[in-house]
Amino acid sequence: MIILGINETSHDASVSLIKDGDILFAAHAERYSKKKNDWYNNKSIILDALNYATPNAIAYYEKPLLKRSRILLRGGASDWKPHIPLNLPVHYFKHHHSHAAAGYYTSRFDDAVIVVLDAIGEYNTSTIWVGEGDNIKLKYKQNYPTSFGLFYSAFTQLIGLMPNQEEYIMMGMAAYGNPKKYEVKVSDYFLRYDMQKYNFHKGIIDWNEPITEQDKFDIAAAVQKVYQLRLNEFMHMAYTITGKNKLVFMGGCALNSSANTLLWNIFDKVWIMPNPGDAGSSLGAAAALYGKHINWKSPYLGYDLGGEYPVDKIIEGLKKDKIVAVATGRAEYGPRALGNRSILADPRDPNIKDKVNLIKQRELFRPFAPVVMAEHASKWFDMDFESPYMQYTVKCLQPEKIPSVVHEDGTSRVQTVTKEQHPGLWRVLNKFYLETGVPVLLNTSLNIKGQPLLNDENDIKLWEETYNFTICR
Ligand SMILES: [Fe+2]
Repeated sequence: MIILGINETSHDASVSLIKDGDILFAAHAERYSKKKNDWYNNKSIILDALNYATPNAIAYYEKPLLKRSRILLRGGASDWKPHIPLNLPVHYFKHHHSHAAAGYYTSRFDDAVIVVLDAIGEYNTSTIWVGEGDNIKLKYKQNYPTSFGLFYSAFTQLIGLMPNQEEYIMMGMAAYGNPKKYEVKVSDYFLRYDMQKYNFHKGIIDWNEPITEQDKFDIAAAVQKVYQLRLNEFMHMAYTITGKNKLVFMGGCALNSSANTLLWNIFDKVWIMPNPGDAGSSLGAAAALYGKHINWKSPYLGYDLGGEYPVDKIIEGLKKDKIVAVATGRAEYGPRALGNRSILADPRDPNIKDKVNLIKQRELFRPFAPVVMAEHASKWFDMDFESPYMQYTVKCLQPEKIPSVVHEDGTSRVQTVTKEQHPGLWRVLNKFYLETGVPVLLNTSLNIKGQPLLNDENDIKLWEETYNFTICR
């Protein structure tokens, strides 16, 4: 069975292709169209997927008519009409079912609780499922407008950022604010939402006081704190309802790496698929149709640049310039650059952060993440679990040695790497470690400001011309 999974009419269209449980291809539309957060798939991504195999069924990640009924009855304003690219039978799965399937069927668990928290699908906004063997079953649901995701996005918009896109910037800003000033006020919004007396879909329409530049950071801190308190409560409820000690966490909220760390206090094992938001749901829909665990090996599933990992070139570049761009092999499926479309830099240099921020033309407060050899992670960061997809923020234990990857509050969003997971990147780290005693590098996405991660040869050419900077490949 060859299944083409499709997600569109959301803020992150994507396509996946699976054959008998093997993932042949999975990628984001934006990397092909160069339109950030593209809502629709395009001819190039479909053709790239079809290079791998010809599907005999299509799985779509939502129930379009159900979504339309919610928009008509209860509000919201998104498109609901999918464009199906091939004349094949189409199987439609509910939005949260696709999230749950993307998480559970890529996990190694056969007995787990699955929690899905996002802004909104058709009606559901927060769901708890149980996965046993190859079956997943819904146990609890919360409907629109009560929504963790809409809560977070409404405040993202309030402080002048783009909702559904720049929540991660607000999360980063939280470290620079004092949550005390607005905690009570933000909690009160959450309380009204609990009672279905507030619809965050319309934004925060009654803040009624001026917002200074510092207030933006204080609001971000208060929102992050309130979000974490409520997430903690919800996850305890999920544990109590199901009695399961293994968690699969999915939905856009699972991208909040600062909050995700608290999950390890509740559950023995946690799996967050590296693409837990809607962009991961093309794979989720395909997996839901397959109805069994699929063969998850790595997130390197997109456009293939080919080539061996350029270990020696990267080490040479780090020695010479301390900053190296790398584009090779298959693109990451998910929002984070995990080594194949990355800028890597020497984390010991305190000025590197500003240099990389200048290259990327980002706000200077924006933090950078470290990538560390998994075997050394617990000596450098306060963690006793692996974080292969940069999904958890933890305290840095030796901040004076790697200042450029430590956030204002002393934490880092860590990516751990094993030899099996990414042999090339592991060898780069090992060589750097043998020469410097530091098994850590700065790792950030390779993109032009405001544009998606680099994808193909044309993007590389454009980047090299724009920055006069050679990419290792
Ligand atoms: Fe979603």
